[in-house]
Amino acid sequence: MRRKLAAGNWKMNGLPSDLSEVSELQTAAQGDAEVLICPPATLLTSASAQAGKIALGGQDCHGESSGAHTGDISADMLKSAGATYVILGHSERRADHGETDARIADKTRAAWTAGLTAIVCVGETLDDRESGATLDIVGTQLAGSLPDGASAQNTVLAYEPVWAIGTGKVPTTAQIGEVHDFIRQSLITRFGNDTGSMIRILYGGSVKASNAKEIFAVKDVDGALVGGASLKAADFAPIVAALNAA
Ligand code: 13P
Repeated sequence: MRRKLAAGNWKMNGLPSDLSEVSELQTAAQGDAEVLICPPATLLTSASAQAGKIALGGQDCHGESSGAHTGDISADMLKSAGATYVILGHSERRADHGETDARIADKTRAAWTAGLTAIVCVGETLDDRESGATLDIVGTQLAGSLPDGASAQNTVLAYEPVWAIGTGKVPTTAQIGEVHDFIRQSLITRFGNDTGSMIRILYGGSVKASNAKEIFAVKDVDGALVGGASLKAADFAPIVAALNAA
């Protein structure tokens, strides 16, 4: 059985006063599904003091463990601040920072070395989808961003169509199902049935309380990576509840 995961990506949002949202999620986090919040790195240490059953994660790390990389953060630093997960290869980092699949693979290896679970993100743009290239793009990103050695313990996949992020547009359940099935088959082909069938696959992109139930009913959707609706406990808790009920 794959343990369901409700992950919140706060992106570049959150000040110390927002940590009350983490405390308020404690009740929601008592169910079977794992609840994860990825706040900005500045909040990890203070969040860990009140995280309770909620896991914490970073939003990026460098591919090296230390050195002359101004402004970057290492996987060990995230770990020491209380993180057990790190989001890697988010489309906003691929776009804003030119992150390539190879660089994301380096970061993933660094995360594993530090003992973090990497949430590796893949997803097509609207142009990719409209030209029928979705599975090609996702397959290429998956092959290039995920190093050899992935396991159900050290890796979670997140399928996030770029055109669905922050737009309120959500793929049909058939479209989500097609990509999740493709990712599942690719993982099984590459890592074998035991590992490939156990790595969790999250859907991300405009997940809200109002659409969570139907998304969580799709085969091979093991949870969600939620942006905007993870910032407030009042919005995120019903999504966690829908996952627990799925
Ligand atoms: P939204 O839920 O705001 O669309 O963001 C999704 C996302 O990018 C999570 O990583």
